[in-house]
Amino acid sequence: MNEDLEFGRDTRKLNTEVKGGSAMQVLEVENITKSFGGLKAVDNVSFHIDEGELVGIIGPNGAGKTTLFNLLSCFLSPDSGTIKFKGENIIGMAPHKVVNLGIARTFQVVRPFRHLPVIANVMVALKSPRGAKKIEWLKTMERKAADLLEDVGLSELMLEPAENVGHGDLKRLEIAKALATEPDVLLLDEPFGGLNPLEVDFLTKSILRMHLDEPRRSIIIVEHKLYALMKLVKEVKVLHRGKKIAEGTPEEIANNKKVVEVYMGGPIKHA
Ligand SMILES: Nc1ncnc2c1ncn2[C@@H]1O[C@H](COP(=O)(O)OP(=O)(O)OP(=O)(O)O)[C@@H](O)[C@H]1O
Ligand SMILES: [Mg+2]
Repeated sequence: MNEDLEFGRDTRKLNTEVKGGSAMQVLEVENITKSFGGLKAVDNVSFHIDEGELVGIIGPNGAGKTTLFNLLSCFLSPDSGTIKFKGENIIGMAPHKVVNLGIARTFQVVRPFRHLPVIANVMVALKSPRGAKKIEWLKTMERKAADLLEDVGLSELMLEPAENVGHGDLKRLEIAKALATEPDVLLLDEPFGGLNPLEVDFLTKSILRMHLDEPRRSIIIVEHKLYALMKLVKEVKVLHRGKKIAEGTPEEIANNKKVVEVYMGGPIKHA
C-alpha cells in the first residue's frame, strides 16, 4: 500500500468523525433515464452520495458518464426519474442556479476565457457574498483566486493569458474555477485526461488535500485512468451502456466479474 492511499484513508476516517458516524445524503438520484433519439445514454440509474464522500465513476467510452454529470449539473434534464440535492428537487433548474445552490462541475473539454489571465478566469468564478460586504469581498478576490491557484499548482502561471497555457494546466484551472464557487458537491470529469504521470500524481495529492481541508464537500470523479482513481476514492460506481452495473470499494470493483468482462470486451475464457 502506498503513501497516497494511506493519506486517503486518514482523510476518510476524519469524515466519519466530522459526521459523527451518521452521514447526511447530499445527492439522491432515483431511476434517472436520458435518451438521445433511440439511445438510452443513462438508463434507470439510482445512487446516493453522502456528505464528504469521495466517489469514482468509471465505465468504457460512451457509458453515459458525462451525460450523468450533465444531468446532475442541470445542463440536461432527465426524461424520467428524480434528482435531489439536500432534499430539494433540482430537475429543470438553470445550471447557474445549481452552482449557487452548491454543485459545481468541470468539463471533459476545457473552456477557459482564453484572452483573460489565468487568475482572472478564477476570479470571475468566485462565489459572491450577499448583502453589504461586497467592497471588502472585492479586496479579497485576488488573494482568494491566488490561493486556489496555489492549491492546484498553478501559481507561476497566474498572470499568463489562458490561451498560452498548456492542456494539463488548463485542466487544473478548471478545478480551481469549480472550487471558486465553494461547492458542496464537486463533479470532476476526467481530471487526469491528457496529464502526464507526474501531473496525475500532483493532482491526486491536491484532491486529497482539498478533501482533508473541506471534509464536508463531496467529490465525484469520472476517470479513465483507473490506477490513479482507485488509489484516490473509497467507493466506485460502474456505468456500462447507460446502466449502473456495479458499485463497491475499489477492491470489490477490481474483482467484479461483470466489470472485468466489460473492460475486456467480453466474457473471460479460461483455457
Ligand atoms: N447531446 C447528445 N446527442 C446525442 N447523443 C449523445 C449526446 N451526448 C451524448 N450522446 C451519446 O450518449 C452516449 C453516452 O455519452 P457520454 O458522453 O455520456 O459517455 P461517456 O461515458 O462520458 O464517454 P467518454 O468516456 O468517451 O467520455 C454516447 O453514445 C454518446 O454518443
Ligand atoms: Mg465523457
